[in-house]
Amino acid sequence: MSENKPYSQACENNKQVILEKLTAVFTSPGTVLEIGTGTGQHAVHFARHLPHLTWQPSDHPDNYQLCLPWIEDSGLDNINTPLALDVNQSNWNLPPINGVFSANTAHIMSWEDVKAMFRGVSAHLQQGEAFCLYGPFNYNGQFTSASNQQFNRYLKQQNPAMGIRDIEDLKEVADQNELVLEADFEMPANNRVLIWRRL
Ligand SMILES: C[S@@+](CC[C@H](N)C(=O)[O-])C[C@H]1O[C@@H](n2cnc3c(N)ncnc32)[C@H](O)[C@@H]1O
Repeated sequence: MSENKPYSQACENNKQVILEKLTAVFTSPGTVLEIGTGTGQHAVHFARHLPHLTWQPSDHPDNYQLCLPWIEDSGLDNINTPLALDVNQSNWNLPPINGVFSANTAHIMSWEDVKAMFRGVSAHLQQGEAFCLYGPFNYNGQFTSASNQQFNRYLKQQNPAMGIRDIEDLKEVADQNELVLEADFEMPANNRVLIWRRL
């Protein structure tokens, strides 16, 4: 066992409720790309409980090796080697994929990055395949909780390009990229799971 694995308490708190949504969406065998894998706790949990899937972790080139200790410790053979992927790359250099998952990335990426993520996701999915996006989101510029508003203030202090995204703005970008919002699930701690479907 690696003793120095990166750790996120939030991932421990949300991994089971997210898994329940992914189980309903990713029903067929195939490869799911994770964008912004982070610590790897999600990757391991989902790969373990969705054995019909191959999980393809990826993260920004500065961070993509962060998840290695969790993946190596898991002993699972349905997790691929993590890829260095900045969503702004013109070529994502991916194996064929059948779905995409990303958690807590849209408010960390700049708006230009978010648009690049939707473009890239759309380019790699076939008709009917899904993109599951987890995190905090706003409606019409309105925060869904005081704690999200506070969190947004904190993000802006770190970097003005970061911030909680508006679902209406995401829908517009999705629309330009042949993705449609199929479901919007309320999740604990003022988060949501958005299921986008490739037209
Ligand atoms: C708050 S962390 C979320 C990590 C993990 N998904 C989770 O839920 O704990 C945001 C992640 O987005 C990634 N990220 C930021 N900008 C990115 C970009 N341009 N391309 C790909 N990943 C990016 C970061 O490297 C980081 O892993």
